[in-house]
Formats: sequence, C-alpha cells, structure tokens
Amino acid sequence: MSKLPKDFLWGGALAAHQFEGGWDADGKGPSVIDVMTAGANGVPREITETVEADKFYPNHEAIDFYHHYKEDIQLFSEMGLKCLRTSIAWSRIFPMGDESEPNEAGLQFYDDVFDELLKKGIQPVITLSHFEMPLHLAKEYGGFRNRKLIDFFENFAKVCFKRYQSKVKYWMTFNEINNQMDTNNPIFLWTNSGVIVNKDENPKEVMYQVAHNELLASAKAVIAGKKINPNFEIGCMVSHVPIYPYSCDPEDIMAAEEAMHQRFFFPDVHVRGEYPRYALKEFERHNYNIGIQEGDLEILKAGTVDYIGFSYYMSTVVKADAKADQLGNVVNGGLPNGVPNPYIKSSDWGWAIDPDGLRYTLNRLYDRYQLPLFVVENGFGAIDKLEENHTIHDPERVNYIKEHIQAIEKAVDYDGVEVLGYTPWGIIDLVSFTTGEMKKRYGMIYVDRDNEGKGTMKRYKKDSFAWYKNVIETNGLTL
Ligand code: BG6
Repeated sequence: MSKLPKDFLWGGALAAHQFEGGWDADGKGPSVIDVMTAGANGVPREITETVEADKFYPNHEAIDFYHHYKEDIQLFSEMGLKCLRTSIAWSRIFPMGDESEPNEAGLQFYDDVFDELLKKGIQPVITLSHFEMPLHLAKEYGGFRNRKLIDFFENFAKVCFKRYQSKVKYWMTFNEINNQMDTNNPIFLWTNSGVIVNKDENPKEVMYQVAHNELLASAKAVIAGKKINPNFEIGCMVSHVPIYPYSCDPEDIMAAEEAMHQRFFFPDVHVRGEYPRYALKEFERHNYNIGIQEGDLEILKAGTVDYIGFSYYMSTVVKADAKADQLGNVVNGGLPNGVPNPYIKSSDWGWAIDPDGLRYTLNRLYDRYQLPLFVVENGFGAIDKLEENHTIHDPERVNYIKEHIQAIEKAVDYDGVEVLGYTPWGIIDLVSFTTGEMKKRYGMIYVDRDNEGKGTMKRYKKDSFAWYKNVIETNGLTL
C-alpha cells in the first residue's frame, strides 16, 4: 500500500522567467531578471543597467515555452503530472508595474496555459512572484525599499486572483523570499526585491526594511485572496537549507541553532503573523530601524498563510571556530563559518546531496508550525549528454529524486508529517537561476539548447521521464 495520501500532488516545478522566453512578447515589460547576463559555477551573473545590445541574456528566450506550450504540456500530461507549479511573470501583466490597468494579452497567455493544463487534468500551482519584478519598479521606485510596492504587488495579486479564481487553488506569494538573508551575493536582494545596496548602507538593515515591506505585501495579498475566493490555499515559499552543527561540541550546536534563525525568520512571520523575539532582539542589538508603521503589525497578523511551500536541495554545516582552511568549496548560503560535511557528497556545483536532510526539514518545519507542507522544489542539476539516437541517460538524477521521495514517504508514514505534494524542480530543462547556464540541467525532458543560446530547441525524453511516470502511476510505490 502506498505510504502517501491518495490525492498526493505529484508534479513538476518551473518559473516563468527561466523557461517561458518571450521576454518582450505581446506587451511584456522587462523584469529584473532580463538585465542579468549569464555566469557560470563560481562566475557571478552581471546585473546591467539596461538591456545592452552586445550582451547575452539567457532568460530572454529561455526554452521558449511561450511558443511551445501546447507541445510541452502534452509531454507533462504523458508523464502523468497531477500539478504544475509555475509563476506568473509580473511584468507580463503589468509591464511597468505601476499601471492601473493590466495588459490583456499577458492575462490571456496564462488563461491559455491554464486551460491547456486543466484539459489534461493538471492543476496549476502558482507563485505570484518568482524573481520577476518589473524592472521599472526597481529602477524608479527602488524596489521593495519603497512602500508603494506593497500596493503595486497587492494590485497585481488581486488581478491574478480574480482572473484565475476558478482555475487555480494553490497559490504562493514570494518565491524563496528568504534568499536575501544572504546579503553577500547581490543577486538575491535584486531578484527577491529589486534592491541594490549602496556602499554606505548596512546590508542587513536594508534587507530587514525591504523584508518588512514584502512581508506586508504578502499578508495583504493573502487577505485580498481570501476575500476573492475563500477556498484558495495561499502559502509562502522559502528555501530551506538546514544548518547542521559540525559536532556535538555545545559551541557547534549553538552556532547552528543561532544560524537557523536565518532560516526561520521569514516563515515565522508568514505563519505566526508577528516578528519572532530573536529578531526583535537583533534589531535592538544593532539599532536597526526596519520602518514598522502604525497598523502594520495588524496586517501581518491578519494575513497569515495556509501552508508552507519550500524548496529543498541540500543541507549545510557550521563549525563554531571554523578556520579559513576548513571552509572548503561548498555552497553554504553566505555563512561565515560554513564547512563541508564529511559524510556526504556534493554535486558538480557544490550542492551537498542529503536526502535525510529533507526528512529532517519536514519534521522541523512541521513541529514548529503544524501547517501542511508542500515540497515545491527539489532536484539534481547536472550535465546531461544527448546521445546520437536522442536518448539521455540520467541515473544520478533518478537516484537523487528516488532517495528524496523515500525521505518524504518516511516523514509522512513514520513521522506523521502532513505533505501536500512534491514538484521536482525544472521538470523540463531551463535556465539556471544562480548561474544563468543551460548546462546545469534539472529536467526529465531535455531541451536542445546550450549556454550560448544555440540549439534546435527540440525536446527529448530522458530516462528519468519513464521512471517518474511510473512513480506517479503507483503513487510512489514503485521507485
Ligand atoms: C531555487 C529557485 O533557488 O533553486 C529556482 O527557486 C532555481 O529559481 C533553483 O532555479 C535551482 O537553482 P539553480 O541556480 O541551480 O537554477
């Protein structure tokens, strides 16, 4: 018997800017991602002032779902997906962001996509903002530094809620809103919030000010959404990278415990509708003024979420007294004392592969919040080889996903955690967010396109395609 509920939402996850292309089609305005060039592992993506003619912007065309959506949805349907998590490109609906009327052609595109999905029995699960803020809002208003953005976002959310109220039930407000906690890498504040920190500013204080406005925008969207359709399920979306202590040395334990506040800050506010005391203490300690105005706290309290959507790719480790030579080459989310975990391997991009960390995460989040959890991103970014006969063998990806599904099953069946569904990231190959590469592939469907934007754009099924189809058909019994 399956360990998962009958109505478990098996799906795949994508984000508009990473796969749609059509960056200026039918009235769409440029977004913050449209001025980001391609980077590579260890080579940062450049954020340019405007779209420059001699630069390559991989998201502009991406995998051109905009013109291939029927063919792609047919493949998703063959795979047996029950849901597809994607986002609505904000600047397709409001090209500048501050208009009073939306762009009808943009709204119609999502009607067409959602209708096509629903026709095939696939329910759309929608993120309102997945790094796609209209560029104009970042440039002219300073992004979420400016409280006007709260209204612009609320208006955008209302338009989407009203238009798609009979087509979408599960919504999320901001994708991985907590990425910006890592203020060392400018792409996070830029893509989350349309903000660049000036040299004379304290990045952490700016981040908390911006976060306050964004948390208000999220809460206002939840309040508005519930009025439009009380049956909506509106969640938050956070990136959860658990931080383990390096050893049982109490100093390591406390270093990890403290660092975990960075992970819990955003969901604490989204779920409980108030600032956690450790954060208030931090604001006080550093004399941060985060700009709370009269009435804000009531809004946060009234706009709490129904479930927690989260991404899980890896875990990380902190060592209280880590020396420079112990830090190693691992992705550690900007933690100053992050060290490699000697017990687990990493991907070619330095992402630690740790399926047990997913069960650990599910338990920690559920114990803390007692809200349903939705694993809306998880996956294995790797180089794939297109063979001459158009097959692609990706056993490592199958193994990665298999072990993570086993972790979910254990959390559900043994630990009693409530999990709504599982949507592995990049069900079809798409542009990597952090590096802008195509060669970091996550999909079960291969797209013939390379880092420079060359290729036929043809789609081919990888071995993982048939494997995942079978997993869905048996509700996780055959792995
Ligand atoms: C998450 C994002 O950070 O991880 C996605 O929500 C992103 O947008 C995914 O693509 C994987 O990251 P990357 O950098 O490998 O594409």
